[in-house]
Amino acid sequence: MKYHLGIDIGTTGVKTLLLNRRGSVVGASIKEYPMAMPEPGWAEQSPEDWWQAVIDSVREVLNLSGIPAGDIAGIGLSGQMHGSVFLDKDNKVLRPCILWCDQRTAKECAYIEWKIGRKKLIRLAGNPALTGFTAGKVLWVRNNEPGVYKKINKILLPKDYIRFRLTGAFATEVSDASGTLFLDVKNRKWSKQILEELDVPLSFMPECRESWEISGMITEKAGRLTGLKTGTPVIGGGGDQAAQAIGTGIVKPGIISINIGTSGVVFACSEKPQFDPAGRVHTFCHAVPRKWHVMGVMLAAGGSLRWFRDNLGREEARAAKQKGIDPYEALIEEARNIPAGSEGLMFLPYLSGERTPYADPCARGVFFGLGLRHTKGHMIKAVLEGVCFGLRDSLGIIEELGIPVKEIRVTGGGARSKAWIQILSDVLGREIITVEPAEGSAYGAALLAGIGAGVYADAAQACGRTIRTKAVFRPSPANASVYNRRYRLFRSLYKSLKEDFKINQDSKISRR
Ligand code: XUL
Repeated sequence: MKYHLGIDIGTTGVKTLLLNRRGSVVGASIKEYPMAMPEPGWAEQSPEDWWQAVIDSVREVLNLSGIPAGDIAGIGLSGQMHGSVFLDKDNKVLRPCILWCDQRTAKECAYIEWKIGRKKLIRLAGNPALTGFTAGKVLWVRNNEPGVYKKINKILLPKDYIRFRLTGAFATEVSDASGTLFLDVKNRKWSKQILEELDVPLSFMPECRESWEISGMITEKAGRLTGLKTGTPVIGGGGDQAAQAIGTGIVKPGIISINIGTSGVVFACSEKPQFDPAGRVHTFCHAVPRKWHVMGVMLAAGGSLRWFRDNLGREEARAAKQKGIDPYEALIEEARNIPAGSEGLMFLPYLSGERTPYADPCARGVFFGLGLRHTKGHMIKAVLEGVCFGLRDSLGIIEELGIPVKEIRVTGGGARSKAWIQILSDVLGREIITVEPAEGSAYGAALLAGIGAGVYADAAQACGRTIRTKAVFRPSPANASVYNRRYRLFRSLYKSLKEDFKINQDSKISRR
């Protein structure tokens, strides 16, 4: 029993990693799936696609590594947070999962805050009602698809649906459950008060435990489909952000992480539940017992660059693929000689609306200041800079709350680009550290599996034995001073456009 497995159910695909006791990756596989946008501002996925991707990626890891399934001591799960999988009494999925970046629930969020009271809600759930969170989705289905609502027997988060397919158990853990708005974040258990006020039965919720605990065993059927051994324990795991934090060594206050994935997250660990009275950043349970975390989430970080690649950078992406180069690196290379500040071009990265700091489902992306002189390279550089400005918003709020920031570690797909990390360092005016292995959420999920299976005593030991710092990026004073000026414009542009975003809103995004 020498290995542990991590499976991350991401927004773009499933990533599976097999680790040995030293934390070295001995097998890895990524399998992608699509996202549907049936209406402007909506985002859905098929849970069956996740399951098929899990089967394929686990099989691939077992085949490529040649490790016998019987040598795997435990499996940890992580996944995109806040999504809602609705199951009927026969455990059939009732409708596509409504994802974390879906913005349809503004009306329901307004109702939740009116019914419970915003202050009380922040006190109980650690957060205000945000459009991406699960509670609004449940109420949206009740209001708009009553036939579906009537049939609901269980509501599961994305990784917990995979847990159900692997083990037959209805279970979750505290870090992911925090993002439902149904959890009493301080006491780490479902809030009967919130559920009652919103008239949502407690029986809809799966059992909720600490993240390292065993929640079930691989069933015979799941074993046959995936190649895993029947009876292998499946550990709680974590929401993707808590899991990536463990995979980056963020298990005590002082060290914070910035994750540039589809979303962009600034994550700080705290010894107590520390709430932002203004509700701009989230307070969730960490996937470590008796620890919490505060995080700011921007909805389109890497997602902004992906949008650019898919719509304006298709030629470059095709050419890069032919040369065997990463298309994102090729795009970023095109921006290499563009000076800091993109010669007056600015990008507001609100392609999916925004969560931190504005909680505004109506906000949208903007290129501001386009002139004849600007090239595609300028646009790419402006996208990279705009994402970093958004991350600076979250870091500023975390510091304003008095949370210590002694070291910043960067992680996620965006951290593969040295050029982007340097821009981040310049925009924040701070040193940024990279770590290895840089595998993010799936790695954290695998470490949690190692803790649950008894390979490591706790998260601090797991991280201490496996994660090392790799490189330090230092800010250029000249660029930092350009970015300080540009950041003020970035802030004021949103304020100037706020009301116009509302007027411009898509009809399906109901106004609050
Ligand atoms: C966190 C959040 C995203 C998703 C997708 O609150 O919404 O990070 O988990 O990664």
